Amino acid sequence: MEIVIFAGIIISLYISYFYFHYFTRPNPLPGPFPFPFIGTLFQIGVDPCKWGEKNLNDSIDLWEFYVGPFRVITIRDAKYLDKIYLSYNEAKNLSKESKFFKRNTAAYDEVGILNGIVLNSVYHKWKRSRQFVTKVLMSKKYHYGFINSVQNIFKEYEVYWDENKEVTLDFSTWVYNYKAQVSVMTVIGQQLYNLPSLDLISKAASEYIAMFAFLVFVPKIVSRILMLIGFNTMKKRSIFLNGTIKNVVQKRREEIENGSPTNFNLLDLLLTSNLLNDSESIKGEEPFTNEEVVTNLAEITATSIETTSSALCFLVYNVAQNPSVIEKIRAEILKVFGPDTNTIITYETLGRCHYIEAAIKEALRITSPVPYNLRILDGEESVGKFHWPSGTWFWINHHRIMNDPNNFNEPKKFNPDRFLDEEYGGTGEFKNIPKNVYAPFGGGLRICPGKNIALIELKLITVLLFRKYNINLVNGSESIKYGYRSAQQMVATVITELAIL
Ligand code: HEM
Repeated sequence: MEIVIFAGIIISLYISYFYFHYFTRPNPLPGPFPFPFIGTLFQIGVDPCKWGEKNLNDSIDLWEFYVGPFRVITIRDAKYLDKIYLSYNEAKNLSKESKFFKRNTAAYDEVGILNGIVLNSVYHKWKRSRQFVTKVLMSKKYHYGFINSVQNIFKEYEVYWDENKEVTLDFSTWVYNYKAQVSVMTVIGQQLYNLPSLDLISKAASEYIAMFAFLVFVPKIVSRILMLIGFNTMKKRSIFLNGTIKNVVQKRREEIENGSPTNFNLLDLLLTSNLLNDSESIKGEEPFTNEEVVTNLAEITATSIETTSSALCFLVYNVAQNPSVIEKIRAEILKVFGPDTNTIITYETLGRCHYIEAAIKEALRITSPVPYNLRILDGEESVGKFHWPSGTWFWINHHRIMNDPNNFNEPKKFNPDRFLDEEYGGTGEFKNIPKNVYAPFGGGLRICPGKNIALIELKLITVLLFRKYNINLVNGSESIKYGYRSAQQMVATVITELAIL
């Protein structure tokens, strides 16, 4: 009985504390009324921005909701992003200048987070991993290896499609299978190591991303309790955490030490980074440990499968809906690669596909795979005309900003010409777009390090698909379907069937 009374007192105190904070909060903004413990979950569910679209006036550019006890400020206008997306070029010492470095509150290391990038809140540790991974992802060696692997994998599908002349496939299922293969080849380098099936790799990637979302939104104490109950099961199921990948890394390290030549994949390039103290080395850093390699391979696999697969679905959907765009894509392919549909595609030839690049940028604008981004203020700061306390969460609605008629002419129209210079036949509209308006890859200090490789892959697949196949949307008259897989608000998939003729 005493325990019940005691619990009642604690809960009442918490509720009073919660509402005291709510009613005295600085800069009250429009948004649903929150409840203790669950915040605005009842009213909003898992997609705050959808709630905003339905319930708020278009002129409102800042509003608020609650994730449990955390107040989240939603940004709907790029004019508030200057400080949040402060870039390397704008500040000499970013660790001191940027108060928007964090994307989660706790700096704990449940699943090796402090060895990686995505949820790392400890600046010097994040910087180390980010430097190593970015160096490899941006390197020509990695790009060449990547382009080669994708073409080899695509050839295997072509054999089947060409035999059958006409194939109907659920593109969004196919794309996950394709992307899992690409990840294995470009991240780990070879399938020799008896890794689990491709399907399991996609599932593990989804779970890994789900884990990120979980760790972002749940306070440390809650996550620890829940982990004890069920989270460990999820950890075990993930190939990245159950030891398989550790063995791969250890084995490959030994092979390289015994003189095996390095290949152009992420594993080999990370293992050999900074081994020789040469001009290419990152200054003042020891080479990566096995644990660091493991975490970063897992993070890159998970982040690249989820995002690129969605981007590919959206791209094919948008292009296939627009015959005039297909025509221009084909004209460019013919100009750059000639009539032979088996020509080897290179880094250099891809660089000449300006229209295809514009089509990809337009697809990422109109149907963004990562429509929202989260940053947490560390220290007091003003954003817009308001001053905010440390710990305030900012939820940036990129989808809305990139589809706002104040930012783009006829934003609902899929029009790659807006991302094309006048000299290539475009309108050059993108040159007048205000700063931070177009941000499918986020911005500032933590901008997506996979941006370039994602664009390369999307270009490559566009050429491979459209140079040889007619793509019809079987369900083309249906409007695009969005779904959130695993990471809330981070991944959207479209279920679209394609007929390849
Ligand atoms: C079309 C595909 C992709 C989209 C739309 C996308 C989008 C994003 C966005 C919006 C962020 C948050 C950036 C910020 O906070 O400012 C991000 C972060 C990240 N992305 Fe991507 N991404 C894509 C592909 C990739 C690929 C292919 C990789 C790896 C090869 C990757 C690795 C990462 C990593 C590691 C982070 C965390 C960066 C950090 O916290 O410092 N992404 N991505």
